[in-house]
Amino acid sequence: MSPSGRTVYRCSECGAEHPKWGGRCDACGEWNTLVEEPLAAARGRTRGGRTQPTAPGPEPVRLADIRGERLERWRTGIAEFDYVLGGGIVPGSLVLVGGEPGIGKSTLLLQCAARLEAAGISTLYVSGEESVDQVRLRAERIDEDAGPVRLLPEVRVESILGRAGGGVTQVIFVDSIQTTYTDELDGAPGNVGQVRECAARLQRFAKETGAAVVLVGHVTRGGVIAGPKTLEHIVDTVLYFEDSAGSEFRVLRAVKNRFGSVDEVGIFEMTGAGLRPVENASAAFLAGRDTATAGSAVTALMEGTRPVLVEIQALAAKAGFGTPQRVATGLEHRRLAVLLAVLERRANLSFRDLDVFVNVTGGVRLVETGSDLAVAAALCSSLADRPLPSDALFIGEIGLGGEVRPIAALDRRVSEAERLGFRRVFVSARNRTGTGVAAVPLGTVEDLWRHVAA
Ligand code: TYD
Ligand code: MG
Repeated sequence: MSPSGRTVYRCSECGAEHPKWGGRCDACGEWNTLVEEPLAAARGRTRGGRTQPTAPGPEPVRLADIRGERLERWRTGIAEFDYVLGGGIVPGSLVLVGGEPGIGKSTLLLQCAARLEAAGISTLYVSGEESVDQVRLRAERIDEDAGPVRLLPEVRVESILGRAGGGVTQVIFVDSIQTTYTDELDGAPGNVGQVRECAARLQRFAKETGAAVVLVGHVTRGGVIAGPKTLEHIVDTVLYFEDSAGSEFRVLRAVKNRFGSVDEVGIFEMTGAGLRPVENASAAFLAGRDTATAGSAVTALMEGTRPVLVEIQALAAKAGFGTPQRVATGLEHRRLAVLLAVLERRANLSFRDLDVFVNVTGGVRLVETGSDLAVAAALCSSLADRPLPSDALFIGEIGLGGEVRPIAALDRRVSEAERLGFRRVFVSARNRTGTGVAAVPLGTVEDLWRHVAA
Protein backbone atom coordinates (compact mmCIF):
# COMPACT_ATOMS: atom_id res chain seq x y z
CA MET A 1 0.00 0.00 0.00
CA SER A 2 1.28 3.41 -0.79
CA PRO A 3 1.15 6.07 1.90
CA SER A 4 -1.87 8.28 1.54
CA GLY A 5 -1.33 11.78 0.22
CA ARG A 6 0.58 10.59 -2.84
CA THR A 7 -2.53 10.40 -4.92
CA VAL A 8 -5.48 12.57 -5.77
CA TYR A 9 -8.87 11.78 -7.22
CA ARG A 10 -9.88 13.47 -10.41
CA CYS A 11 -13.39 13.71 -11.80
CA SER A 12 -13.42 12.15 -15.25
CA GLU A 13 -16.30 14.44 -16.22
CA CYS A 14 -15.19 17.93 -15.17
CA GLY A 15 -11.57 17.36 -14.17
CA ALA A 16 -11.97 18.67 -10.61
CA GLU A 17 -9.38 17.41 -8.14
CA HIS A 18 -10.34 15.88 -4.78
CA PRO A 19 -8.04 14.82 -1.96
CA LYS A 20 -10.30 11.87 -1.06
CA TRP A 21 -12.43 9.43 -2.99
CA GLY A 22 -16.16 9.99 -2.95
CA GLY A 23 -19.15 8.61 -4.78
CA ARG A 24 -20.00 11.99 -6.21
CA CYS A 25 -18.00 14.88 -7.59
CA ASP A 26 -18.58 18.01 -5.47
CA ALA A 27 -17.81 20.25 -8.40
CA CYS A 28 -20.14 18.96 -11.08
CA GLY A 29 -22.38 16.62 -9.13
CA GLU A 30 -21.75 13.54 -11.33
CA TRP A 31 -21.78 10.15 -9.65
CA ASN A 32 -19.00 7.56 -9.83
CA THR A 33 -16.61 9.68 -11.81
CA LEU A 34 -13.68 10.05 -9.39
CA VAL A 35 -10.56 8.26 -10.59
CA GLU A 36 -7.35 7.87 -8.66
CA GLU A 37 -4.30 9.58 -10.13
CA PRO A 38 -0.70 9.89 -8.90
CA LEU A 39 0.02 13.27 -7.33
CA ALA A 40 3.12 13.72 -9.48
CA ALA A 41 1.07 13.41 -12.63
CA ALA A 42 -1.53 15.81 -11.27
CA ARG A 43 1.15 18.38 -10.39
CA GLY A 44 2.78 18.04 -13.78
CA ARG A 45 -0.57 18.64 -15.37
CA THR A 46 -1.19 21.98 -13.64
CA ARG A 47 2.34 23.14 -14.17
CA GLY A 48 2.36 22.24 -17.84
CA GLY A 49 -0.93 24.00 -18.26
CA ARG A 50 -0.18 27.35 -16.68
CA THR A 51 3.47 28.24 -16.31
CA GLN A 52 6.77 27.82 -18.13
CA PRO A 53 5.83 30.03 -21.04
CA THR A 54 9.49 30.46 -21.95
CA ALA A 55 10.45 26.78 -21.79
CA PRO A 56 11.96 25.87 -25.19
CA GLY A 57 9.84 23.03 -26.50
CA PRO A 58 10.38 21.39 -29.86
CA GLU A 59 10.68 23.70 -32.85
CA PRO A 60 7.78 23.79 -35.27
CA VAL A 61 8.53 21.98 -38.51
CA ARG A 62 7.02 22.54 -41.92
CA LEU A 63 5.14 19.46 -43.03
CA ALA A 64 6.91 19.69 -46.38
CA ASP A 65 10.26 19.40 -44.65
CA ILE A 66 9.45 16.15 -42.89
CA ARG A 67 10.97 13.29 -44.77
CA GLY A 68 8.53 10.49 -45.34
CA GLU A 69 10.09 7.41 -43.90
CA ARG A 70 8.32 4.16 -44.41
CA LEU A 71 7.01 2.78 -41.19
CA GLU A 72 8.98 -0.21 -40.10
CA ARG A 73 6.82 -3.12 -39.03
CA TRP A 74 7.48 -6.40 -37.31
CA ARG A 75 5.54 -9.11 -39.02
CA THR A 76 4.32 -11.97 -36.89
CA GLY A 77 3.80 -14.18 -39.91
CA ILE A 78 0.25 -14.86 -38.75
CA ALA A 79 -1.23 -13.36 -41.87
CA GLU A 80 -4.63 -12.39 -40.49
CA PHE A 81 -3.12 -10.72 -37.43
CA ASP A 82 -0.58 -8.71 -39.44
CA TYR A 83 -3.29 -7.75 -41.89
CA VAL A 84 -5.63 -6.38 -39.23
CA LEU A 85 -2.77 -4.40 -37.70
CA GLY A 86 -2.13 -2.84 -41.09
CA GLY A 87 0.96 -4.87 -41.96
CA GLY A 88 2.53 -5.88 -38.67
CA ILE A 89 3.42 -4.47 -35.26
CA VAL A 90 4.74 -0.91 -35.38
CA PRO A 91 7.78 -0.30 -33.12
CA GLY A 92 6.94 2.02 -30.25
CA SER A 93 3.23 1.43 -30.51
CA LEU A 94 0.72 0.35 -27.89
CA VAL A 95 -1.84 -2.18 -29.02
CA LEU A 96 -4.87 -3.31 -27.05
CA VAL A 97 -6.41 -6.68 -27.76
CA GLY A 98 -9.82 -6.83 -26.14
CA GLY A 99 -12.22 -9.71 -25.88
CA GLU A 100 -14.35 -11.78 -23.54
CA PRO A 101 -12.60 -14.26 -21.27
CA GLY A 102 -11.98 -17.58 -22.98
CA ILE A 103 -12.10 -16.22 -26.51
CA GLY A 104 -8.44 -16.99 -27.22
CA LYS A 105 -6.53 -13.76 -26.58
CA SER A 106 -3.73 -15.45 -24.65
CA THR A 107 -3.49 -18.18 -27.27
CA LEU A 108 -3.26 -15.69 -30.13
CA LEU A 109 -0.63 -13.57 -28.42
CA LEU A 110 1.49 -16.53 -27.35
CA GLN A 111 1.46 -17.68 -30.97
CA CYS A 112 2.50 -14.20 -32.03
CA ALA A 113 5.31 -14.14 -29.48
CA ALA A 114 6.57 -17.50 -30.71
CA ARG A 115 6.49 -16.36 -34.34
CA LEU A 116 8.27 -13.11 -33.52
CA GLU A 117 11.03 -15.00 -31.69
CA ALA A 118 11.40 -17.25 -34.72
CA ALA A 119 11.83 -14.11 -36.82
CA GLY A 120 14.57 -12.86 -34.52
CA ILE A 121 12.50 -10.28 -32.65
CA SER A 122 12.91 -10.51 -28.90
CA THR A 123 9.75 -10.74 -26.84
CA LEU A 124 8.66 -10.75 -23.24
CA TYR A 125 5.39 -12.37 -22.27
CA VAL A 126 4.14 -10.97 -18.98
CA SER A 127 1.52 -13.19 -17.46
CA GLY A 128 -0.33 -11.73 -14.52
CA GLU A 129 -3.31 -14.01 -14.87
CA GLU A 130 -1.87 -17.44 -15.19
CA SER A 131 0.94 -19.35 -13.54
CA VAL A 132 3.98 -20.30 -15.60
CA ASP A 133 2.68 -23.86 -15.64
CA GLN A 134 -0.61 -22.83 -17.16
CA VAL A 135 1.21 -20.89 -19.86
CA ARG A 136 3.51 -23.86 -20.48
CA LEU A 137 0.47 -26.11 -21.02
CA ARG A 138 -0.85 -23.69 -23.60
CA ALA A 139 2.59 -23.48 -25.22
CA GLU A 140 2.60 -27.27 -25.60
CA ARG A 141 -0.69 -27.21 -27.46
CA ILE A 142 0.10 -24.63 -30.10
CA ASP A 143 1.84 -25.48 -33.36
CA GLU A 144 4.45 -22.76 -32.94
CA ASP A 145 7.55 -23.34 -30.88
CA ALA A 146 7.12 -21.00 -27.92
CA GLY A 147 10.32 -22.26 -26.29
CA PRO A 148 12.42 -19.12 -26.85
CA VAL A 149 9.70 -16.77 -25.51
CA ARG A 150 10.70 -15.24 -22.22
CA LEU A 151 7.92 -15.53 -19.67
CA LEU A 152 7.51 -13.21 -16.71
CA PRO A 153 4.91 -13.88 -14.04
CA GLU A 154 4.49 -10.35 -12.73
CA VAL A 155 1.77 -7.81 -12.04
CA ARG A 156 3.68 -4.76 -10.75
CA VAL A 157 4.19 -2.35 -13.62
CA GLU A 158 7.46 -1.08 -12.10
CA SER A 159 8.97 -4.57 -12.14
CA ILE A 160 7.64 -5.24 -15.62
CA LEU A 161 9.31 -2.12 -16.96
CA GLY A 162 12.47 -2.96 -15.02
CA ARG A 163 12.64 -6.36 -16.70
CA ALA A 164 11.76 -5.04 -20.11
CA GLY A 165 14.13 -2.09 -20.00
CA GLY A 166 17.64 -2.02 -21.28
CA GLY A 167 16.58 -2.09 -24.90
CA VAL A 168 16.66 -5.85 -25.27
CA THR A 169 12.96 -6.49 -25.54
CA GLN A 170 11.28 -5.45 -28.75
CA VAL A 171 7.74 -6.60 -28.11
CA ILE A 172 6.18 -6.89 -24.67
CA PHE A 173 2.91 -8.72 -24.17
CA VAL A 174 1.02 -7.83 -21.01
CA ASP A 175 -1.66 -10.37 -20.16
CA SER A 176 -3.69 -8.64 -18.84
CA ILE A 177 -3.85 -4.90 -18.17
CA GLN A 178 -6.52 -5.57 -15.53
CA THR A 179 -4.11 -7.55 -13.37
CA THR A 180 -1.33 -4.95 -13.49
CA TYR A 181 -0.94 -2.33 -10.81
CA THR A 182 1.41 0.47 -9.89
CA ASP A 183 2.74 1.21 -6.40
CA GLU A 184 1.88 4.83 -6.93
CA LEU A 185 -1.84 4.27 -6.52
CA ASP A 186 -3.72 2.84 -3.59
CA GLY A 187 -6.52 1.27 -5.59
CA ALA A 188 -6.76 -2.43 -6.36
CA PRO A 189 -5.63 -3.80 -9.74
CA GLY A 190 -8.40 -3.59 -12.29
CA ASN A 191 -9.94 -0.36 -11.10
CA VAL A 192 -10.15 2.48 -13.57
CA GLY A 193 -7.35 4.52 -12.04
CA GLN A 194 -4.94 1.58 -11.98
CA VAL A 195 -5.76 0.40 -15.48
CA ARG A 196 -5.35 3.87 -16.90
CA GLU A 197 -2.15 4.70 -15.07
CA CYS A 198 -0.53 1.34 -15.94
CA ALA A 199 -1.47 1.77 -19.58
CA ALA A 200 -0.11 5.32 -19.57
CA ARG A 201 3.19 4.10 -18.05
CA LEU A 202 3.47 1.39 -20.67
CA GLN A 203 2.65 3.91 -23.37
CA ARG A 204 5.44 6.21 -22.21
CA PHE A 205 7.81 3.28 -22.06
CA ALA A 206 6.92 2.28 -25.62
CA LYS A 207 7.41 5.79 -26.96
CA GLU A 208 10.72 6.23 -25.14
CA THR A 209 12.33 2.90 -25.93
CA GLY A 210 10.77 2.04 -29.28
CA ALA A 211 9.52 -1.28 -27.96
CA ALA A 212 5.98 -2.24 -28.88
CA VAL A 213 3.57 -3.17 -26.11
CA VAL A 214 0.58 -5.41 -26.68
CA LEU A 215 -2.01 -5.34 -23.91
CA VAL A 216 -4.72 -7.86 -23.26
CA GLY A 217 -7.91 -6.25 -22.00
CA HIS A 218 -10.91 -8.17 -20.79
CA VAL A 219 -14.23 -7.08 -22.00
CA THR A 220 -17.07 -7.18 -19.53
CA ARG A 221 -20.46 -8.57 -20.45
CA GLY A 222 -21.72 -5.21 -21.61
CA GLY A 223 -19.00 -5.14 -24.23
CA VAL A 224 -16.74 -2.46 -22.83
CA ILE A 225 -13.20 -3.00 -21.73
CA ALA A 226 -13.18 -2.70 -17.96
CA GLY A 227 -11.44 0.53 -17.13
CA PRO A 228 -13.53 1.81 -19.86
CA LYS A 229 -13.04 3.97 -22.91
CA THR A 230 -10.11 5.82 -21.35
CA LEU A 231 -7.93 2.90 -22.36
CA GLU A 232 -8.97 3.19 -25.96
CA HIS A 233 -7.78 6.80 -26.00
CA ILE A 234 -4.38 5.97 -24.59
CA VAL A 235 -3.49 3.17 -27.00
CA ASP A 236 -2.61 3.48 -30.69
CA THR A 237 -4.54 0.48 -31.87
CA VAL A 238 -7.57 -1.32 -30.51
CA LEU A 239 -8.35 -4.81 -31.73
CA TYR A 240 -11.38 -6.76 -30.61
CA PHE A 241 -11.37 -10.51 -30.64
CA GLU A 242 -14.87 -11.90 -30.84
CA ASP A 243 -16.42 -15.27 -31.40
CA SER A 244 -19.12 -15.98 -33.86
CA ALA A 245 -22.14 -17.11 -31.89
CA GLY A 246 -20.99 -20.51 -30.76
CA SER A 247 -19.01 -21.36 -33.90
CA GLU A 248 -15.34 -22.20 -33.96
CA PHE A 249 -14.63 -19.01 -35.88
CA ARG A 250 -13.03 -16.06 -34.18
CA VAL A 251 -13.07 -12.62 -35.69
CA LEU A 252 -10.32 -10.11 -34.99
CA ARG A 253 -11.50 -6.61 -35.71
CA ALA A 254 -9.63 -3.31 -35.70
CA VAL A 255 -11.78 -0.58 -34.17
CA LYS A 256 -9.06 2.01 -33.87
CA ASN A 257 -5.75 2.08 -35.68
CA ARG A 258 -3.29 4.92 -35.89
CA PHE A 259 -1.16 2.88 -38.28
CA GLY A 260 -3.70 1.29 -40.55
CA SER A 261 -7.31 1.26 -41.52
CA VAL A 262 -10.10 0.24 -39.22
CA ASP A 263 -12.89 -2.14 -40.07
CA GLU A 264 -10.42 -4.71 -41.33
CA VAL A 265 -11.10 -8.14 -39.94
CA GLY A 266 -9.10 -11.30 -39.62
CA ILE A 267 -10.85 -14.61 -39.33
CA PHE A 268 -9.45 -17.45 -37.26
CA GLU A 269 -10.51 -20.90 -36.30
CA MET A 270 -9.82 -22.31 -32.83
CA THR A 271 -8.34 -25.75 -33.29
CA GLY A 272 -6.79 -28.29 -30.97
CA ALA A 273 -3.41 -26.73 -31.74
CA GLY A 274 -4.14 -23.06 -31.29
CA LEU A 275 -5.67 -20.52 -33.61
CA ARG A 276 -5.38 -20.97 -37.34
CA PRO A 277 -6.06 -18.15 -39.81
CA VAL A 278 -8.94 -18.92 -42.13
CA GLU A 279 -7.62 -17.93 -45.53
CA ASN A 280 -10.69 -18.70 -47.52
CA ALA A 281 -13.37 -17.28 -45.28
CA SER A 282 -16.08 -17.48 -47.92
CA ALA A 283 -15.58 -21.19 -48.46
CA ALA A 284 -15.51 -21.74 -44.70
CA PHE A 285 -18.72 -19.81 -44.15
CA LEU A 286 -20.49 -21.60 -46.96
CA ALA A 287 -19.28 -25.06 -45.98
CA GLY A 288 -22.18 -27.29 -45.07
CA ARG A 289 -24.68 -25.28 -47.08
CA ASP A 290 -27.66 -27.36 -48.12
CA THR A 291 -28.61 -25.95 -51.50
CA ALA A 292 -31.73 -28.10 -51.81
CA THR A 293 -33.47 -26.51 -48.82
CA ALA A 294 -35.81 -23.58 -49.06
CA GLY A 295 -34.90 -20.47 -47.10
CA SER A 296 -31.19 -20.27 -47.82
CA ALA A 297 -29.68 -17.31 -49.66
CA VAL A 298 -26.09 -16.24 -50.16
CA THR A 299 -24.80 -12.68 -50.14
CA ALA A 300 -21.40 -11.03 -50.29
CA LEU A 301 -20.42 -8.67 -47.48
CA MET A 302 -17.46 -6.37 -47.38
CA GLU A 303 -15.37 -7.12 -44.33
CA GLY A 304 -13.11 -4.12 -44.47
CA THR A 305 -11.76 -4.18 -47.98
CA ARG A 306 -12.32 -7.88 -48.51
CA PRO A 307 -15.47 -9.50 -49.80
CA VAL A 308 -16.79 -12.44 -47.79
CA LEU A 309 -19.65 -14.69 -48.79
CA VAL A 310 -22.13 -15.72 -46.12
CA GLU A 311 -25.29 -17.75 -46.07
CA ILE A 312 -28.51 -16.40 -44.63
CA GLN A 313 -31.15 -18.86 -43.53
CA ALA A 314 -34.77 -18.06 -42.93
CA LEU A 315 -37.56 -20.19 -41.62
CA ALA A 316 -41.16 -19.07 -41.69
CA ALA A 317 -43.23 -21.63 -39.82
CA LYS A 318 -46.79 -21.76 -38.61
CA ALA A 319 -46.99 -20.10 -35.22
CA GLY A 320 -48.27 -22.18 -32.34
CA PHE A 321 -50.34 -19.66 -30.42
CA GLY A 322 -50.17 -16.09 -29.25
CA THR A 323 -48.00 -13.47 -30.93
CA PRO A 324 -45.80 -14.99 -33.65
CA GLN A 325 -42.11 -14.95 -32.84
CA ARG A 326 -39.46 -12.94 -34.67
CA VAL A 327 -36.01 -14.28 -33.93
CA ALA A 328 -32.94 -12.85 -35.65
CA THR A 329 -29.40 -14.08 -35.07
CA GLY A 330 -26.61 -12.06 -36.64
CA LEU A 331 -29.07 -9.45 -37.83
CA GLU A 332 -30.69 -6.54 -36.03
CA HIS A 333 -34.24 -7.29 -34.93
CA ARG A 334 -35.38 -3.93 -36.19
CA ARG A 335 -33.96 -4.58 -39.65
CA LEU A 336 -35.86 -7.86 -39.81
CA ALA A 337 -39.05 -6.10 -38.74
CA VAL A 338 -38.57 -3.49 -41.48
CA LEU A 339 -37.94 -6.11 -44.16
CA LEU A 340 -41.00 -8.13 -43.11
CA ALA A 341 -43.15 -5.02 -43.18
CA VAL A 342 -41.87 -4.08 -46.64
CA LEU A 343 -42.53 -7.61 -47.98
CA GLU A 344 -46.06 -7.53 -46.54
CA ARG A 345 -46.94 -4.12 -47.91
CA ARG A 346 -45.07 -4.00 -51.20
CA ALA A 347 -45.21 -7.63 -52.32
CA ASN A 348 -48.46 -8.59 -50.62
CA LEU A 349 -46.93 -11.46 -48.72
CA SER A 350 -48.28 -12.43 -45.34
CA PHE A 351 -46.05 -13.43 -42.45
CA ARG A 352 -48.74 -12.49 -39.96
CA ASP A 353 -49.48 -15.98 -38.64
CA LEU A 354 -45.96 -17.27 -38.99
CA ASP A 355 -43.04 -17.52 -36.65
CA VAL A 356 -40.00 -16.10 -38.43
CA PHE A 357 -36.44 -17.10 -37.70
CA VAL A 358 -33.44 -15.65 -39.49
CA ASN A 359 -29.92 -16.84 -38.95
CA VAL A 360 -26.59 -15.85 -40.47
CA THR A 361 -24.29 -18.84 -40.65
CA GLY A 362 -20.76 -18.75 -39.34
CA GLY A 363 -22.00 -16.33 -36.69
CA VAL A 364 -21.33 -13.33 -38.91
CA ARG A 365 -23.14 -10.11 -38.04
CA LEU A 366 -24.86 -8.27 -40.83
CA VAL A 367 -24.26 -4.57 -40.53
CA GLU A 368 -24.47 -3.51 -44.15
CA THR A 369 -27.86 -2.90 -45.71
CA GLY A 370 -26.47 -4.58 -48.85
CA SER A 371 -27.53 -7.89 -47.31
CA ASP A 372 -31.23 -6.86 -47.26
CA LEU A 373 -31.96 -8.53 -50.57
CA ALA A 374 -30.51 -11.85 -49.43
CA VAL A 375 -32.55 -11.74 -46.20
CA ALA A 376 -35.68 -10.97 -48.22
CA ALA A 377 -34.85 -13.74 -50.71
CA ALA A 378 -34.40 -16.25 -47.90
CA LEU A 379 -37.73 -15.18 -46.38
CA CYS A 380 -39.53 -15.43 -49.73
CA SER A 381 -37.94 -18.80 -50.44
CA SER A 382 -39.06 -20.17 -47.09
CA LEU A 383 -42.56 -18.75 -47.52
CA ALA A 384 -42.89 -20.26 -51.01
CA ASP A 385 -41.15 -23.43 -49.87
CA ARG A 386 -38.96 -23.28 -52.96
CA PRO A 387 -35.18 -23.45 -52.79
CA LEU A 388 -33.30 -20.62 -54.46
CA PRO A 389 -30.94 -21.46 -57.31
CA SER A 390 -27.77 -22.82 -55.74
CA ASP A 391 -25.51 -20.69 -57.95
CA ALA A 392 -27.29 -17.40 -57.19
CA LEU A 393 -26.06 -14.50 -55.14
CA PHE A 394 -28.25 -11.70 -53.73
CA ILE A 395 -26.84 -8.23 -53.23
CA GLY A 396 -28.90 -5.11 -52.68
CA GLU A 397 -30.48 -2.77 -50.21
CA ILE A 398 -34.24 -2.63 -49.85
CA GLY A 399 -35.97 0.70 -49.37
CA LEU A 400 -39.23 1.31 -47.55
CA GLY A 401 -41.00 1.61 -50.88
CA GLY A 402 -39.97 -1.94 -51.72
CA GLU A 403 -37.40 -0.76 -54.25
CA VAL A 404 -34.15 -2.66 -54.63
CA ARG A 405 -31.29 -0.22 -54.37
CA PRO A 406 -27.77 -0.45 -55.77
CA ILE A 407 -24.82 -0.93 -53.48
CA ALA A 408 -21.10 -0.12 -53.62
CA ALA A 409 -18.18 -2.37 -54.53
CA LEU A 410 -20.44 -4.73 -56.44
CA ASP A 411 -17.76 -6.01 -58.79
CA ARG A 412 -15.40 -6.98 -56.03
CA ARG A 413 -18.15 -8.91 -54.28
CA VAL A 414 -19.25 -10.62 -57.44
CA SER A 415 -15.69 -11.62 -58.35
CA GLU A 416 -15.34 -13.39 -55.03
CA ALA A 417 -18.58 -15.25 -55.74
CA GLU A 418 -17.45 -16.13 -59.24
CA ARG A 419 -14.32 -17.68 -57.79
CA LEU A 420 -16.53 -19.95 -55.70
CA GLY A 421 -18.68 -21.04 -58.61
CA PHE A 422 -21.60 -18.60 -58.47
CA ARG A 423 -23.07 -17.90 -61.89
CA ARG A 424 -25.78 -15.31 -61.41
CA VAL A 425 -26.33 -12.35 -59.16
CA PHE A 426 -29.65 -10.77 -58.25
CA VAL A 427 -29.06 -7.04 -57.99
CA SER A 428 -30.80 -3.71 -58.32
CA ALA A 429 -31.71 -2.88 -61.90
CA ARG A 430 -29.72 0.30 -61.32
CA ASN A 431 -26.51 -1.55 -60.44
CA ARG A 432 -24.11 -2.28 -63.30
CA THR A 433 -21.84 -5.27 -63.20
CA GLY A 434 -18.86 -5.83 -65.37
CA THR A 435 -18.04 -9.39 -64.46
CA GLY A 436 -18.60 -12.76 -66.02
CA VAL A 437 -21.51 -13.47 -63.70
CA ALA A 438 -24.95 -12.92 -65.21
CA ALA A 439 -26.92 -10.15 -63.53
CA VAL A 440 -30.62 -10.62 -62.79
CA PRO A 441 -31.92 -7.06 -62.47
CA LEU A 442 -34.65 -6.38 -59.91
CA GLY A 443 -36.71 -3.22 -59.55
CA THR A 444 -38.73 -4.05 -56.47
CA VAL A 445 -39.38 -6.80 -53.96
CA GLU A 446 -42.31 -7.84 -56.13
CA ASP A 447 -39.84 -8.75 -58.89
CA LEU A 448 -37.92 -10.75 -56.33
CA TRP A 449 -41.03 -12.64 -55.27
CA ARG A 450 -41.88 -13.41 -58.90
CA HIS A 451 -38.45 -14.94 -59.44
CA VAL A 452 -38.61 -16.97 -56.26
CA ALA A 453 -42.15 -18.27 -56.61
CA ALA A 454 -41.95 -18.83 -60.38
P1 TYD B 1 -7.37 -18.48 -24.01
O1 TYD B 1 -6.31 -18.07 -24.96
O2 TYD B 1 -6.96 -18.84 -22.63
O3 TYD B 1 -8.49 -17.34 -23.94
P2 TYD B 1 -8.42 -15.86 -23.25
O4 TYD B 1 -7.00 -15.53 -23.02
O5 TYD B 1 -9.08 -14.94 -24.24
O6 TYD B 1 -9.20 -15.92 -21.99
O7 TYD B 1 -8.11 -19.73 -24.69
C1 TYD B 1 -9.47 -19.95 -24.63
C2 TYD B 1 -9.93 -21.33 -24.99
O8 TYD B 1 -9.31 -21.89 -26.10
C3 TYD B 1 -9.78 -22.31 -23.86
O9 TYD B 1 -11.06 -22.70 -23.45
C4 TYD B 1 -9.06 -23.48 -24.44
C5 TYD B 1 -9.17 -23.27 -25.92
N1 TYD B 1 -8.01 -23.75 -26.67
C6 TYD B 1 -8.20 -24.62 -27.75
O10 TYD B 1 -9.31 -25.01 -28.07
N2 TYD B 1 -7.09 -25.03 -28.47
C7 TYD B 1 -5.84 -24.64 -28.15
O11 TYD B 1 -4.87 -25.03 -28.82
C8 TYD B 1 -5.67 -23.74 -27.04
C9 TYD B 1 -4.29 -23.27 -26.65
C10 TYD B 1 -6.77 -23.33 -26.33
MG1 MG C 1 -6.05 -15.23 -21.16
